[in-house]
Amino acid sequence: MDYDGFIQLVQNRRSIRSFKTDPVPDDLVEKIIEAARFAPSGANSQPWEFLVLNDKDVKDRVVEIVKEGSESSYKIGQTRPPDERHPSDNRRWKNPGFKDAPVFIILFGDKRLMETFPLSACLNHGDEIFVSSLASTFLYMNLAVTSLGLASQWVTSTSQPLAQALIKELLGVPRDYKLYDTMAVGYGKHPPLPRLVRKREEITHDNRYDMNKYRPDEQLKKFIGAVQKGRSTMPDSSG
Ligand SMILES: Cc1cc2nc3c(=O)[nH]c(=O)nc-3n(C[C@H](O)[C@H](O)[C@H](O)COP(=O)(O)O)c2cc1C
Repeated sequence: MDYDGFIQLVQNRRSIRSFKTDPVPDDLVEKIIEAARFAPSGANSQPWEFLVLNDKDVKDRVVEIVKEGSESSYKIGQTRPPDERHPSDNRRWKNPGFKDAPVFIILFGDKRLMETFPLSACLNHGDEIFVSSLASTFLYMNLAVTSLGLASQWVTSTSQPLAQALIKELLGVPRDYKLYDTMAVGYGKHPPLPRLVRKREEITHDNRYDMNKYRPDEQLKKFIGAVQKGRSTMPDSSG
């Protein structure tokens, strides 16, 4: 694959949050995990394991667990003044988009593999290396999904402490494992809306940090507001 093909794949990768119930063939799921095996990891520790859920009853139980946890988050969100609430801090938790996806791939990391890291790294930032390794394989999964014409949603709510404990118990996952995140995989119901992507020249610095590119709080606030509302452009063109 040349760069043109690669950048097209990267640009086509999107988050999809509503799914058809059509099943995903097992061989496509295998292909996603096949790609994930080759991701870079700290000290080549490869701490990842993938739990594939396609049994509707088990998936439904996971969704129920997520809803319980999300209800608490929702209640916490409601303690903020109305104008400071995230637009997603609404009752969406009652009907999570990923629930209809025919496959959930839950990514676990075996914490014992942090022993693979040099002691200095382990003592200093072992947790970050471990989590980054899991993020790395998750991204490979994302790209594989796109290349196969499938859709996916990155679901972090399964890793909240309560959800994590209950899901691990439900699925018989050993204690030493961290539930990183879940990927809901299927066929998207709708194409994704355009998204806001920061311009290359705004995020690149040559040799030294260019303070002209440092965004003052007001500008940053505008940006945060725009991405929270899912806008594809900034209200003005200042970036
Ligand atoms: C670490 C991480 C956590 C995320 N968690 C969620 C999530 O819990 N639910 C969700 O719908 N999307 C989640 N996303 C997807 C982002 O919302 C999405 O990537 C972003 O809005 C840009 O849209 P795009 O993926 O279509 O380019 C997550 C992405 C990352 C990298």
